Amino acid sequence: VAATAERTGVAPERVWRDLGQYGRTNGIIADLIARHLALDEDIHVDPSSIVVTVGAQEAMAILLTGLFEPGRDMLLVSDPTYIGITGLARILNVRVVPVPSGDSGLDPAVVERSIVDASRHGRVRAIYDIPDFNNPLGTSPSVATRLKLLDVCRRHDVLIIEDNPYGMFAYEHERRPTLKSIDADGNVIYIGSFAKTLFPGLRVGYLVADQEVGSNSAKSGETVAAALSRVKSLITVNTPPLVQAIVGGVLLETGGSLEPIVAPKRAVYKTHRDTLVAALASEFHDLRHEVTWSSPAGGFFLPMTLPFHFGPQELRRCALDYGVIVCPMRFFCLDAVRTNQIRLSFSYVDPDAIRRGVKGLAAFVRDRLAAGAGDSDRRSSATDPTEASLAVA
Ligand SMILES: Cc1ncc(COP(=O)(O)O)c(C=O)c1O
Repeated sequence: VAATAERTGVAPERVWRDLGQYGRTNGIIADLIARHLALDEDIHVDPSSIVVTVGAQEAMAILLTGLFEPGRDMLLVSDPTYIGITGLARILNVRVVPVPSGDSGLDPAVVERSIVDASRHGRVRAIYDIPDFNNPLGTSPSVATRLKLLDVCRRHDVLIIEDNPYGMFAYEHERRPTLKSIDADGNVIYIGSFAKTLFPGLRVGYLVADQEVGSNSAKSGETVAAALSRVKSLITVNTPPLVQAIVGGVLLETGGSLEPIVAPKRAVYKTHRDTLVAALASEFHDLRHEVTWSSPAGGFFLPMTLPFHFGPQELRRCALDYGVIVCPMRFFCLDAVRTNQIRLSFSYVDPDAIRRGVKGLAAFVRDRLAAGAGDSDRRSSATDPTEASLAVA
């Protein structure tokens, strides 16, 4: 409050009073978020193109409500993907088309084919993806792939909704640029969240929509963010000024960048990732042909492939009998693939618990294999008759 009073020349009592009132629909800290985006993400936008939201989740709700005609427009999503968006699309009656993700995330050629195919059935309005340290796959596509994805979407006039809660948690290489920061054509709508950089209970996120409303021939002069305020005003009226003040206070104290806050967390989470990878190598060393995983270069998640199906029943068994909870990848999938995959989360788990958890998981896998799980699953999932008979043999 003191910093705001000093910055704006408004008396501290008045600042306190305003924090208790209804506030501006699109938020009171857009200027501070714009500075954070410029310093930490190389995204340069005017504060008027930012809507401060109740978490990234509300940003998604505003976008699906404001940009899509229910039952008609289609949203392409990388598959598997964050269930926050697909669950929301279901309740808002937005048609969703899955685009299969590969080991490095979305493949622009596959995206293009999906857009062309889906366009026969209606308008493809946007594609949703998490390019940086994807949830659930942990992937992070190369710069060349990002540029190709931008090009495909520009040519087909499809917006990209880029969700980026994990970008600041890069453990290996230099950060790759966000799609928004290399978007030369104004085709990307960006979603940010303070859930991972600060803390999730805050419920503060934002969207950046600096596009102008209207077609190329009839521009309105209004930004999409300004137009979306009409949607937000009917969903949450405004993001609580008190929680915005907490984020604003942090950003004022750090000079605008979240790096001083994130750096120590990043170091801890990297240790957790390294502990997990080392424990997997040690506990599964004799099963390297049957059990595979990839070490993510950042973020919170590591995908692992088992030699048998892993669904809700296995989740329950593993938790009750072996003391470890892992998430079936199929929970995030729209198409029934990746039935043998699981997602391991390591960010908030201390190293001893990680080692104990991996031991428990290894015991579960060994017991299942000893009970013949791999063989029976291979047999039941095989569709090629030759393959099926070989599996039985
Ligand atoms: C892909 C993705 N988007 C957004 C969020 C955060 O959303 P919120 O800001 O609503 O907590 C998460 C958190 O799990 C996430 O994984």
